[in-house]
Amino acid sequence: MIQSNLFSKELLDKLSDAGSVAVLTGAGISAESGVPTFRGEEGLWKKFRPQELATVEAFMRNPELVWAWYRHRRELLSTARPNPGHRALAELEGRCRDLTLITQNIDGLHRQAGSRTILELHGNIRRNRCMECGQRYEDIALPQEPSIPLCRCGGKIRPDVVWFGESLPGETLEQAFVASTRCRVFLCVGTSAVVYPAASLPIVALQGGAYVVEINIEPTALSPQVHQFIQGPSGEVLPLMLKALDRYENQAGQADPRNVQIHDRQESPGGRYS
Ligand code: APR
Repeated sequence: MIQSNLFSKELLDKLSDAGSVAVLTGAGISAESGVPTFRGEEGLWKKFRPQELATVEAFMRNPELVWAWYRHRRELLSTARPNPGHRALAELEGRCRDLTLITQNIDGLHRQAGSRTILELHGNIRRNRCMECGQRYEDIALPQEPSIPLCRCGGKIRPDVVWFGESLPGETLEQAFVASTRCRVFLCVGTSAVVYPAASLPIVALQGGAYVVEINIEPTALSPQVHQFIQGPSGEVLPLMLKALDRYENQAGQADPRNVQIHDRQESPGGRYS
């Protein structure tokens, strides 16, 4: 059971007053939606070899195998739904003047949960593009057979995700660095923080003077460097954080002299007003 006093006054103070918040998420935030992580116990990279499935070379060598794997992952995702962690971040966005959600996930669950300002660093599994002409295709437009969909130009269509050894979409990455540099609070949720350049964003935020909090079921390489490490499943911790923020803001509201209600004057013994 996660204790609600988990959240430091500093975090709640900064969150309730933060002009700008940035959040980095990884596979861990979707684990409670039944989406496998990559490096966890049942992680994808424990069962499959990324060299055979998630590189351009692998696709050129055996596009049928790569497409079969991405169809398998889409199948898995077709029943996945956002969990309370995704929804809490969407709600937090509604409460902040400016929140940027930077995700390494290609599952699209943040958008389904209602988040709006989303930077998909590693692409989206429901989008596709031609290797030759770059023509983009939404998933639904793709024929199931032949197993390697072809573009009108004759080029092979591939999932619009970032594979190992490939560069991230330049503009999206630039926006992620800008948001991480200027934020006052940076939340790092459900990532092992070992894949770059995404893993450098919390460091950029630290260097920018932000208050950096990590939420993970276990410590990572980043944990010694952050202001607060909160151990627990994000689907439980993030909704609790919103509740703690509610309580904190209510108390702050009650403590704020501008908010004191003028009650009827009651004369109590000794002439003090109550
Ligand atoms: N709540 C919070 N954290 C969790 C949860 C949970 N319910 N379940 C797992 N985690 C944590 C794990 O402890 C781990 O630190 O989430 C992290 C998942 O790490 P990875 O599997 O390495 O996933 P991620 O960090 O997103 O990987 C980065 O690597 O394989 C590439 O492109 C892929 O985007 C991916 C990138």
